[in-house]
Amino acid sequence: MNPAQLVRYEVADGVGVVTVENPPVNALAPGMREGVIEAVARANADPDVRALVLIGAGGNFIAGADIRQFGTARAVSTRDSAKVLDASEKPVVAAIDGYALGGGLEHALACHYRIGTARAKLGLPEVTLGIIPGGGGTQRLPRLIGPEAAADLIVSGRHASADEALRLGLLDVLTDASDLRAAAIRYARSVADVRPLPRVSERGDRIAAAAADPAMLESLRKSVARKARHLKAPLEAMACIEAAVQRPFDEGLLLEQRRFAELENADEAKALRYAFFAERQAAKIPGVDKGQTPQPVRSAAVIGAGTMGGGIAIAFADAGIPVKILEVSEEALTRGMQRIRETFEARVKRGSLSPAEMEKRLARIQSVRDYESIADCDAVVEAVFERIDIKQQVFGRLDTVMKPGAVLLTNSSAIDIDVMAAATRRPEDVAGAHFFAPANVMKLCEVVRGSSTSAATLLRAMKMGRDMGKICAIAGSCDGFAANRSRTPMMTETMLMLEEGARPAQIDKVMMAFGYPLGPFAVNDISGLDVSYEGRKRRAAADPGYRKLHVPDRLVEMGRKGQKTGAGWYRYEPGDRAPHPDPVVDEVIAAVASELGIAQRSFDDEEILHRLLFASVNEACKVLEDGKAYRASDIDVMWLHGFGFPRHRGGLMYWADTVGADRIHRQVCEWHEKYGRRWAPSALLGAVAAAGGRLRDATGKEST
Ligand code: 3HC
Repeated sequence: MNPAQLVRYEVADGVGVVTVENPPVNALAPGMREGVIEAVARANADPDVRALVLIGAGGNFIAGADIRQFGTARAVSTRDSAKVLDASEKPVVAAIDGYALGGGLEHALACHYRIGTARAKLGLPEVTLGIIPGGGGTQRLPRLIGPEAAADLIVSGRHASADEALRLGLLDVLTDASDLRAAAIRYARSVADVRPLPRVSERGDRIAAAAADPAMLESLRKSVARKARHLKAPLEAMACIEAAVQRPFDEGLLLEQRRFAELENADEAKALRYAFFAERQAAKIPGVDKGQTPQPVRSAAVIGAGTMGGGIAIAFADAGIPVKILEVSEEALTRGMQRIRETFEARVKRGSLSPAEMEKRLARIQSVRDYESIADCDAVVEAVFERIDIKQQVFGRLDTVMKPGAVLLTNSSAIDIDVMAAATRRPEDVAGAHFFAPANVMKLCEVVRGSSTSAATLLRAMKMGRDMGKICAIAGSCDGFAANRSRTPMMTETMLMLEEGARPAQIDKVMMAFGYPLGPFAVNDISGLDVSYEGRKRRAAADPGYRKLHVPDRLVEMGRKGQKTGAGWYRYEPGDRAPHPDPVVDEVIAAVASELGIAQRSFDDEEILHRLLFASVNEACKVLEDGKAYRASDIDVMWLHGFGFPRHRGGLMYWADTVGADRIHRQVCEWHEKYGRRWAPSALLGAVAAAGGRLRDATGKEST
């Protein structure tokens, strides 16, 4: 957009109205801050203007700085335009509809009044991008709503609703007027003569109590440090909030400016910016017109009331989408519904859901026992036992009963979509919607494309996933699809390193130090060791050269299936989820190693990390080579949201570039020599290494 069109200024009823417009979300592009500064000067110089309104066009206020501008020099900063708004001699009213985020909210905080609609969403999400608010947000927000509420908003990066913002004092007025501009002009006229102007930068009332209570700040700092884990930005934000309480405004502002500049170009911020754009990129299907708008899924059905089916039904209900859960056996249905209720009850117990809201969500889930009852649903997600013949039967039934145009989705994690599509007379309507356990918690929905799946079906499945609050990415159909297929080699290496002398606790420690919330063995104890057991048996039967994983197989055969049986990779005390290393596991490992004649040695932490992640980088390259993902960044999105890969590392492929494709390729070739075919290097990895390129830029072969 031409900078001259980014900010409009006009006078209406004696009020200078400054409208910013930069679709879709009015991010602060170069020229916008300058436009605001100029408009404030014009209004202040015009004797016919008594007050100003700052408003965004197109249903949003301002969603923050343009993230693409970070890391580049900017002539005028939010700090500058905020200073001018703050200093205006005539009152400025921020009129907020939609998003007021980051630099957007900082502009609103520098205004003297804030009026918003019920659609307003206000927040300072900078820490999610590895930075802190840099336009005075860390100084003004605590002065306006108090340090505790400010720390909560800034450190979580979450968006506050209009109701909450009003309660906090972030909004002065919540209007239900249909014309926000007109309401804001009226409001501006009503406060035009009030003096002194209520400048947030000059307020001291909300920080006075904290200034006199160092213990409160100390406990706030500790709680932020606990939540920050591997991230720098939340701690820096907290230091600035403390300065807001303890020092004059201008000093706090200087500190904020210094810390912002240090963080902006740090690795953490670069990786988090990459992740932001990777997520948005994943929503795009190459070759499909951006203008196509899929119909939303307004009613859904889930086949199978097991753990996955129940989790998916909860995710629908959480998103306000009515869902029918179908299970032919009465007993299994009752058990499934009971588990769903327990999941909601646990949330009520934790305080994250009110009992009334729980009942509302439960009411959206209807249990049914026959296929005819789901015929009218817009989408159906099959989540039955992972066996081809059962899936084929289910899809045959769905084809008979479902209304024309319904999308038929499978939550299979490995079975070829085409097999299920072939059981119907509408293969174009069939796709995968692969959720990750627990489906109501994990954010990833891997949308899987069969060879006949239509673009319309893919788009609708993606929209359904997004409406469920998921992050979607598309994979092609192959064993394990893109996410699990690229992760399996890492899991294989975790198991095989045990045979060589590493221990679960050491491997878990290395991966947690890397940034995972839990190590792979602790996670496996939660998900259940038996889940992958069947898949391994299937692969072993299909492939005589398959390298068996004896240690986990034996543990499963001993009944050690993880937390649910009180023991798996670790031992658990009744009623306690803390993992304890178990000598029984060491004995199993020692027995397997001795039977296979594998010598024992020690591993250093870097070898563990590289062995695990390089195996997956190599496989991810093969996924791209085979055209089973569109882009390397889609694989990163899958790892971030399906497997808890640390976000501040960007994603598997982004991280790989920090090591270097060349180094990874050389190591993979070496391990190929040593360990054989499972380390066969990917041609794509070799090509990127030879060209000195970046893996994160790799794209999949056309045929996805
Ligand atoms: N900068 C650049 N582009 C942005 C942007 C931003 N701040 N916010 C959104 N966009 C782009 C997206 O990349 C996307 O582009 P595309 O269509 O080409 O892919 C488009 O706008 C629409 O965005 P979404 O698909 O994300 O739309 P949603 O409706 O799902 O979400 C949103 C809207 C909640 C505003 C979300 O886009 C978002 O969270 N944006 C980032 C907000 C943010 O972090 N702001 C703070 C920036 S840091 C800052 O302000 C520093 C200051 O303190 C100085």
